[in-house]
Amino acid sequence: MKNGTKLHGAILFPSVLLLAVCLWLASPARALDVQLQPTDCVKCHQDEPAWINANGGKHKTEITCLDCHVEHLPWGSDTIPKCSRCHDPGDQKHFTLENCLGCHTNPHMPIASLKLLPDAKTQCGTCHEQELAWIEQNPSKHAEKSCVFCHWAHGKIPNCSKCHEPHLAGQTMENCLSCHRNPHKPLNILPPDNTPVAYCGACHDEIAAKLVKMEYKHGKLLCVYCHKGQHPTVPKCQDCHGTPHGAGILKGRACLDCHRDPHDLLR
Ligand code: HEC
Ligand code: HEC
Ligand code: HEC
Ligand code: HEC
Ligand code: HEC
Ligand code: HEC
Ligand code: HEC
Ligand code: HEC
Ligand code: HEC
Ligand code: HEC
Ligand code: HEC
Ligand code: HEC
Repeated sequence: MKNGTKLHGAILFPSVLLLAVCLWLASPARALDVQLQPTDCVKCHQDEPAWINANGGKHKTEITCLDCHVEHLPWGSDTIPKCSRCHDPGDQKHFTLENCLGCHTNPHMPIASLKLLPDAKTQCGTCHEQELAWIEQNPSKHAEKSCVFCHWAHGKIPNCSKCHEPHLAGQTMENCLSCHRNPHKPLNILPPDNTPVAYCGACHDEIAAKLVKMEYKHGKLLCVYCHKGQHPTVPKCQDCHGTPHGAGILKGRACLDCHRDPHDLLR
């Protein structure tokens, strides 16, 4: 309620009270019958009905003012309801949170007034258990941040480029997520099996340059053809070639003693 209305109410209320008392005195039964109806509220309170009408959501469609405000001053004391009266903490983990009005800042527009606490994390986990579990079980610099650090408004998905430069110019968020498949565990990196050589070359530039220059058949392979799975993995020559030479040729020598470098073969 705005100050103006309060002043207005403060003058009005005693007059209504006086009127009620007069009516009561005048009435043969002398019954105090000043039961308020939902339609009465707007006569003295303009803001709340307007909020509810415009953005009340289920607080508009499922209940009325009187379901929450069951009594009125000056006789009544049950004027402001606790959320738990209807949202029983036994029903939902979400309803066990403290400070409902810290996020749902106005009960007369409970969703439209949603303002997320900047450090919210476990609170979000009351509904998004999976994401909270990922982030808690996979230590990373993302895990040190709150959920709202990235999801600045409810339901909004941030672009990686808001906070990061790409490894290679032109990479999109879709590209990022092809390797960093889950931003809630960013260090679990699983490049897909069609990852271009240039993507690996963004960091391993010397190896990529050698490889693509090479005339031997390794030069035609993608990095991920050999380096499969979670980054980084290192294969053994024998994984693919078995034992191509007899013991006579090898004489205890390692493959690379003769073949130099898988990325720059010598034959
Ligand atoms: C005749 C004018 C009038 C009507 C009609 C009226 N109110 Fe009020 N209401 C007031 C005034 C004046 C106050 C401020 C009382 C005070 O601060 O002592 C108030 C205070 C309140 C408060 C705050 C209570 C508190 O503890 O701070 C609520 C909630 C409220 N009204 C709800 C309603 C609802 C719901 C209706 C309709 C069912 C309604 N009022 C109808 C005049 C009215
Ligand atoms: C879902 C329950 C709920 C409904 C429905 C509801 N209110 Fe409220 N109302 C509250 C709560 C909770 C507060 C206290 C808010 C706070 O402390 O910030 C409140 C506060 C108020 C106040 C006091 C505001 C102030 O600044 O002191 C008034 C007046 C009021 N409501 C009127 C109404 C009217 C009129 C309606 C119907 C159009 C209505 N309310 C519907 C829960 C409700
Ligand atoms: C008199 C009962 C009552 C009280 C008190 C009450 N609510 Fe509700 N609320 C409901 C009902 C009924 C619904 C619709 C069913 C549901 O979603 O559970 C609802 C729905 C909501 C919604 C979803 C709205 C939507 O449009 O989807 C939010 C958010 C909410 N309540 C928050 C609160 C908060 C915060 C409080 C305390 C300030 C509160 N409620 C107090 C009855 C109440
Ligand atoms: C950290 C912020 C935060 C706090 C604290 C919080 N809520 Fe919510 N609440 C949300 C978000 C976010 C949603 C989802 C809104 C949507 O679906 O658009 C939500 C949705 C709801 C809903 C509708 C969805 C449903 O599951 O029925 C209700 C009802 C609700 N809250 C009640 C409460 C009550 C009661 C409290 C206090 C016990 C509370 N909230 C505390 C953020 C919060
Ligand atoms: C009361 C339950 C509830 C709470 C609390 C809640 N959310 Fe949600 N959230 C939902 C629902 C329901 C959806 C819609 C789900 C859908 O569309 O699949 C949603 C959607 C989302 C989405 C978008 C999902 C998508 O697929 O686009 C994000 C991101 C999100 N919430 C983050 C958060 C964060 C961060 C918090 C804490 C500040 C939070 N939520 C708190 C219920 C909640
Ligand atoms: C709102 C900002 C923000 C967004 C959006 C964001 N990040 Fe981050 N990210 C950070 C911050 C801050 C760090 C820590 C940087 C530091 O300390 O140098 C970080 C660190 C990382 C790390 C290193 C983690 C570690 O523990 O060393 C990876 C990988 C990463 N981000 C990938 C991504 C990807 C992929 C996306 C998109 C899906 C993304 N980030 C979206 C802010 C963000
Ligand atoms: C570093 C930024 C960052 C942080 C911190 C973060 N998220 Fe996300 N979140 C994202 C990005 C980016 C996506 C989009 C992922 C995609 O499209 O595959 C996302 C997606 C989601 C979704 C949609 C469904 C899904 O899993 O893809 C939900 C729900 C969600 N986040 C909840 C949370 C919750 C809860 C927290 C805190 C425990 C959190 N997020 C922390 C960046 C972040
Ligand atoms: C080809 C797979 C791949 C793609 C695509 C990819 N990344 Fe990475 N990213 C990695 C690898 C591997 C690391 C290094 C991890 C390590 O240090 O062990 C890394 C590390 C990071 C880091 C940590 C800091 C750093 O630079 O070392 C951030 C931040 C990051 N990536 C963000 C992104 C963003 C944003 C995108 C999309 C523009 C993206 N990544 C695309 C594989 C990829
Ligand atoms: C963002 C930079 C970055 C990108 C992109 C990247 N790497 Fe790496 N890579 C690193 C860093 C840093 C290390 C060393 C630290 C470590 O082991 O995590 C490394 C280590 C490796 C190793 C292991 C080295 C050893 O001695 O164990 C291999 C193999 C490797 N990367 C292959 C690849 C492949 C294949 C790709 C493309 C799918 C790729 N990397 C993309 C940064 C990157
Ligand atoms: C034909 C398979 C194959 C291909 C293709 C391949 N590698 Fe390798 N890579 C290997 C093998 C085998 C080793 C282990 C060599 C050893 O035992 O010393 C290795 C080692 C590495 C190492 C760690 C040792 C070092 O030389 O620094 C990195 C990093 C690496 N590769 C990155 C890459 C990148 C980036 C690409 C693509 C540009 C690539 N590899 C393509 C097979 C391959
Ligand atoms: C992931 C499988 C893989 C690994 C690991 C691998 N190679 Fe190969 N290598 C290939 C493929 C595929 C070819 C091409 C075969 C063909 O086309 O007949 C090849 C071809 C070769 C050739 C013949 C080159 C040519 O152009 O004829 C040599 C020599 C060779 N590899 C050596 C090695 C050595 C040494 C290592 C370990 C350092 C190694 N390879 C690791 C898959 C692999
Ligand atoms: C003593 C040096 C030497 C060692 C040690 C050696 N190679 Fe070779 N390798 C050669 C020579 C020379 C050729 C070319 C033979 C030819 O063209 O017939 C060759 C050819 C190959 C070829 C291609 C065969 C084909 O049919 O085209 C592969 C694959 C290969 N080596 C893999 C390996 C692997 C794997 C190891 C380790 C287990 C290894 N080599 C150890 C000397 C060596």
